[in-house]
Amino acid sequence: MQNLNLTDHKAANEEELARQKEFLEKAGMYVRELASELGRTPTFHVTNFGCQMNAKDAEKLAGILASAGFSEIEEESADFVIYNTCTVRDNADQHFYGRLGRASHFKKSNPRMKIAVCGCMMQEKTNVEKLKKSYPYVDLIFGTHNLFRFPEYLCRVYENAQKYPRSASARRIVDVWEKTDLIVEDLPAERKYAYKSGVNIMFGCDNFCTYCIVPYVRGRERSRSPREILREVTRLAQDGVVEVMLLGQNVNSYGKDLEEPLSFAELLESVCKVPGIERVRFMTPHPKDISEELIQVIKRNPKAARHIHFPLQSGSDRILKLMNRRYSRDEYMEKALHIREEIPDVAITTDIIAGFPTETPADVDDTIDVIRKVGFDNAYTFIYSVRTGTPAARMEQVPEEEAKKGFDRILAAVQETAKQQTLLLQGRTMCALIEEENAQLDGYVSGRLSNNTIVHVPGDASMIGKFYDVSLDDCRGFYYFGKALKERSGEVG
Ligand code: SAH
Ligand code: SF4
Ligand code: F3S
Repeated sequence: MQNLNLTDHKAANEEELARQKEFLEKAGMYVRELASELGRTPTFHVTNFGCQMNAKDAEKLAGILASAGFSEIEEESADFVIYNTCTVRDNADQHFYGRLGRASHFKKSNPRMKIAVCGCMMQEKTNVEKLKKSYPYVDLIFGTHNLFRFPEYLCRVYENAQKYPRSASARRIVDVWEKTDLIVEDLPAERKYAYKSGVNIMFGCDNFCTYCIVPYVRGRERSRSPREILREVTRLAQDGVVEVMLLGQNVNSYGKDLEEPLSFAELLESVCKVPGIERVRFMTPHPKDISEELIQVIKRNPKAARHIHFPLQSGSDRILKLMNRRYSRDEYMEKALHIREEIPDVAITTDIIAGFPTETPADVDDTIDVIRKVGFDNAYTFIYSVRTGTPAARMEQVPEEEAKKGFDRILAAVQETAKQQTLLLQGRTMCALIEEENAQLDGYVSGRLSNNTIVHVPGDASMIGKFYDVSLDDCRGFYYFGKALKERSGEVG
C-alpha cells in the first residue's frame, strides 16, 4: 500500500468498502449453493486468541460470515472455521498449533469444511511458511492489516474449491500485507454481548518496548476519526449497548496523527456524553502518556470507569530502561499515587513481566516494592517469552527456573495487595452492571462494579445488561457476594 494523503484516504476507504460489499453479496451466493448441497444452513466458528483488539476483530469476522448466510455454532467442527491468532508469548503460538492439529480430524469427516487462519501470528513469515509446509488442509491465510478483505477471500476460497478440486496448494489463498494505510469502516460485525462492546479507536503501536512483538505484527499507530468513533458509539447505544470499552494498544497517544489533533482525554469526554452510554472503559494506556488532563476528565465524568489498567512491567529502573519503557519507577509511582488521590475508589491494575533478560532477585525486590507501595487491585503477571526479531531476544537471557522464582514472588505480592484492596470496599453499596448468569451457582447472577471487580448476587437472566445498586456484603479474595438492592435509573456512575 502506498502512502495516501487524507482526502485520498477517505475515498480509498470508501472504494474498498464498496468492493468488499460486492464480494459479500457474491459470498452469499456460494453459501446458498453450499446450503443446497448440504441440505441445511452452513455453519461457522471463530476461535479467538489474544487481547481485546483480537476479540474485536473476531466479531468482525463473525459479522461477515453471518451476513454471508452462515450460522454460528459453538463447535470447532463447523463448515467454515477461522483461527484468529495471537503471538505475544510463545505459549499463545503453541496453543494455536495444538488446536489447528485437531481441526484436520474434523476436515476428514467433513471434506467441504474450510479452514482459515489470520491474526498476529500470520504477520510472521516463519509461521506462514510452517503452515504452507506442514498444514496443507488450511485453505486461507491472511494477516492483521487486510482483515477488511475477508469478504473477498471468502469468495475466492469457494471459487478455488471449484477451480482446483484436486490441488490443496493451488486452492490455498495466502495474502499477508506488511502494512496498510486503510481503515475500512462499516463492514458488518456480530457483537458477542448485547449490552457492552469494544470500540477500536486506534490501531498499531509505535512504542517498541524491547520485549514486544506487537509493533511488528500490528504496524504503526493509526487513529480512527473521532466522527467515525462517535458514530459507532451512538449506533451501539441505539442498539441497547450501555457500556463501551475504547480499544488501542496505546490509547493515550490517540489523535496525534489526525488532521485536527484531538487528545484521548477529549475523545473520552465526548464518548461519555453519548446518550444511552452509561459506562466507558479503555484499554490500554501507557504510563508515560497518562496526562493530568486525562485524570481530570475521568474525575469529573462519573461515566468514565473507576479503573485504570496501568502496565508497570517492572519496578526496577535498570530493567525499565532495557525494556525501553521510558518512565522510571518513581515517575510511575508518583502518577499512580496521584491517580489514587484524585479519583476516589479507583482501581489500578497492571501487567508485570518476570524474567526479563538480565533480571536479578534485586530487580524483583524493586518490583515487589512498587507493587506494595501502589497496592495494585489486580495484575496480570507473565514470564518473559523470547520473541524473535525483538531487541530483548538478543540480550542475556535469565534461566527458566530463576524466572519462575521471580514470577512466584511477584504473583504472591500481587495477590496480597489485590485481597487488601478488595476488602477495602466490603460493606459498601455500589453500582454494578449485571453481565451474566453465574455458571456455578444456580439462582445467582454476576456483575461488575465501575472499578471492574466482580460481584455475585441472587438474581435471574432478566437482570442482565442492567445496572443495580448492590451491597458488597462478603469479600472473598478478589470478588464479592452481595445483594441487588434496586435497579438504577438515570446516571449510574
Ligand atoms: N499495549 C499494551 C498491551 C500489550 S500486550 C501495553 O502496552 O500494556 C499485553 C501484555 O503482555 C504486556 O503488557 C506485557 O506485560 C505482556 N507481554 C508482551 N510481550 C511479552 C513477552 N515477550 N513476554 C512476556 N510478556 C509479554
Ligand atoms: Fe507492546 Fe509496549 Fe506497544 Fe504495549 S506499548 S503493545 S507492550 S510495544
Ligand atoms: Fe496478541 Fe496480537 Fe493482541 S499479538 S496480544 S492478539 S495485538
